[in-house]
Amino acid sequence: MTKTDFIAALPKAELHLHIEGSLEPELLVELADRNNVTLPYASVDDVRAAYQFGNLQDFLDIYYQGMSVLLTQQDFYDLTMAYMVRSAADNVKHVEIFFDPQGHTSRGVSFDAVITGISAALSDGGKTYGISSRLILSFLRHLSQDDAFATLTRAEPYLDKLVGVGLDSSELGHPPAKFERVFARAGEMGLKLCAHAGEEGPPDYVRQALDILKIDRLDHGNRAMEDTQLVDRLIDMNMTLTVCPLSNLMLAVIPSMTASPVKTMLERGLAVTINSDDPAYFGGYMNANFNAVAAALDLSFEQLATLAGNGFRGSFLPESEIVAHLAAIDGIVRP
Ligand code: ADE
Ligand code: ZN
Repeated sequence: MTKTDFIAALPKAELHLHIEGSLEPELLVELADRNNVTLPYASVDDVRAAYQFGNLQDFLDIYYQGMSVLLTQQDFYDLTMAYMVRSAADNVKHVEIFFDPQGHTSRGVSFDAVITGISAALSDGGKTYGISSRLILSFLRHLSQDDAFATLTRAEPYLDKLVGVGLDSSELGHPPAKFERVFARAGEMGLKLCAHAGEEGPPDYVRQALDILKIDRLDHGNRAMEDTQLVDRLIDMNMTLTVCPLSNLMLAVIPSMTASPVKTMLERGLAVTINSDDPAYFGGYMNANFNAVAAALDLSFEQLATLAGNGFRGSFLPESEIVAHLAAIDGIVRP
């Protein structure tokens, strides 16, 4: 079996996906037409040509502009269903996805339309394709902690639809400590805690995410590798890192795919996982991300199986379901 066939056959879990980042140019243009939103692009090709980023902020500017076409519950449903179709094609069996409600409520879209549309597609798509799912409300870190609190309050009637909270958007200048109180409150509400840290930010931001936000899962975490003691700590606590290879390359977090930290993380014993982040913008979904690191780093079949297993082990699924998915991976490794 080739590595590509092996990757395709592996059951996978995606733990780091921004649903707004799965908005493909074709759907972007379709929704712009449907909702009479004017975009600064003449065609789908024009949209794709604009997807060149020197850093995270370059991307975020285009990502927030893209969101402007999402207005109705049906739009959020269609967006999420398209992602479920892509996930099924990649043999992804479980997804834990972020959404950015502040990117929508700030434009006058109701919180209800956003969460109801996304949740309905997760449920319908899950049944059609046999994919389980969880939803994570992500706070925009360039906004204030008060704004995050207001968003958490809006989410209270929908707590049964949420597994956790996250922290995303512009990292530099917006350290985890800025959100200490709102993360404490989310934890009291029984929500799991995730935060992007160490994507562009220094290792100290990863320490803050651990010590101040008390996260359950670390999104990206690349720059933790600069600090040996921090790496040892992440190994000791068995912290799951959601690394996003194509995102890292496209946002110049790494200069080339051969510089991806995934293999070193595996060799050090970190619980690293592979994810697609914003696949419509970065050129590929789960299998494309697996294939990119497998080729560039010459990962072994065993390492690929470990990465897939780490996805389920690091998920917020109940233990019995994790065990079942790991057994299915074993069935691929030792048929
Ligand atoms: N929002 C969407 N994708 C993101 C990323 N990779 N980093 C920070 N914020 C994001
Ligand atoms: Zn992300």
